[in-house]
Amino acid sequence: MENFTFKNATKIIFGKDTENQVGIETASYGGKVLLHYGGGSIKKYGLYGRILKSLRDAGLKIIELGGVQPNPRLSLVKKGIDICRKEKVDFILAVGGGSAIDSAKAVASGVSYNGDVWDFYTGKAVVDKVIPVGVVLTIPAAGSEASNGSVITNEEGLYKRAFTSEKLRPRFAILNPEISYTLPSYQTACGVSDIMAHIMERYFTKVKNVDLTDRLCEATLKTVISNIPIILKEPENYEARAEIMWAGTIAHNDILGTGRIGDWGSHGMEHELSGIYDIAHGAGLSIIFPAWMKYVYKQDVEKFAQFAVRVWNVEPDFKDIEKTALEGIETLKDFYEKIGLPITLKEANIPFDRLEEMAEKCTEGGPVGNFVRLDKSDVLEILKLAR
Ligand code: NZQ
Ligand code: ZN
Repeated sequence: MENFTFKNATKIIFGKDTENQVGIETASYGGKVLLHYGGGSIKKYGLYGRILKSLRDAGLKIIELGGVQPNPRLSLVKKGIDICRKEKVDFILAVGGGSAIDSAKAVASGVSYNGDVWDFYTGKAVVDKVIPVGVVLTIPAAGSEASNGSVITNEEGLYKRAFTSEKLRPRFAILNPEISYTLPSYQTACGVSDIMAHIMERYFTKVKNVDLTDRLCEATLKTVISNIPIILKEPENYEARAEIMWAGTIAHNDILGTGRIGDWGSHGMEHELSGIYDIAHGAGLSIIFPAWMKYVYKQDVEKFAQFAVRVWNVEPDFKDIEKTALEGIETLKDFYEKIGLPITLKEANIPFDRLEEMAEKCTEGGPVGNFVRLDKSDVLEILKLAR
C-alpha cells in the first residue's frame, strides 16, 4: 500500500426532503448567492421553487445563472465570473449534476484570478482563492459533489480538460435520491457507467497489497450492478435510488483510492469523445472501458480474473485464468448493453475519421494511464478496438 493523506471536506446531507435545508446551509457563507443550474430540468420538475423558497427563507439575496450544458462550456464559465465580480457574490450554489457543479467550480476559481480561467485547465496556473461552492445533486454520476475536480470544454478547439485542487471540494452536498426519480433511463444508465468507471479507474492499479480498498471497490460496484435493474423497472424505487446515489459519491470522493495509484487513462480518452462529439460522458466510458481492458489485461491477468470472479460472479477456471479474465470483460460489455449503453463508437454514431487526431490530443501532455502507460499509438489502437 502507498502512503496517503485522506481528507474530504464535503459535508454530506443525505435523504428525503433534504433540499429544504439548503438555505440554512448556504446562509453561513454570506448573504449573496449565485444559483447555477442546467438546461431546465430543475424548473420542469419543481425543484427550483423549493430551492428558491429555502434560500429566501434564510434571507439570502439570489443571483441566477442557468443554461449549463452537459459537457459544460468555458464561455458560460466566463459569464459567471463576470457576474460574480460585478455582484460581489459570496457563495455559488450548483443545483444539478456534474456539469452544473463543474461549471460552478470553474466560476469559483476564476473570480479572483487576473488571468484566463482556462489557465488552470492547461496547468499554466494554480488556483489560489476560490469562492465556496455548495451542491444540490440531481443525478448520481460524476461524483463532482464531493470531488476535487472540475472538467470544462473549451469551445475553441473542443478541448475538454480537467483540473484538480482540494480547494474545489464543495462545502456541502445535499443528496435527496427522490430528486433523481425524474431522470430518463438513459441518463440513469450513463450515470451508473460513470460511477463504475470511477471505481474501475482506481481498482486497476499496479500497487499491490490493497486488499481493503479492493474489497470496498468490489462492494461498491456490486451494489451499483444489482440496483440499476431495479431502477430501470421502477424509477421511483427510493431504496435503489438511494443506494446508487450514495455509491456515486463514494466512488469518487477518494476513499476508494486511498493507498493506491489509479489509472485514469480511460477518462483521458473519453474526454476526447465527449469533447468533440458532445456525447454523455458515461456513454463514452462504456465504449472506451472494454476496449481499454482488452488492450491491457495481459499486464495483470490475475487482477482481471479477480474482477471477473468477485464482481461478476464468473466461475473461475483455475487451469486457464486468462479465459476467466476475458469472461469478466465480456460480462461487463453485456451489462452495458442490457442497461442501454453503447459499447462501440459506431453505436454512438461517432465516425472513425478523427481517431488519429483524438489520440494526438489525448497524449499531447505525455502518455496517459498508470496501470499501463499509453502513448499516442496505444491510444489509437484502443480507439480502433472501440470501433
Ligand atoms: O441540464 P438539465 O436540464 O438539468 O438536464 C440534465 C442534463 O441534460 C439532466 N438531468 C440532471 N438531473 C436530472 C436531469 N433530468 C431529469 N431529472 C433530473 N433529476 O441530465 C443531463 C446530464 O446532466 P450532467 O450534469 O451533464 O450529468 P453528469 O452528472 O453525468 O455530469 C457530466 C459532466 O461531469 C464531468 C463529465 O466529464 C461531464 O462533463 N465529470 C466531472 C467529474 C468531476 N468534476 O469530478 C468527474 C467525472 O469523471 C466527469 O468527467
Ligand atoms: Zn467520470
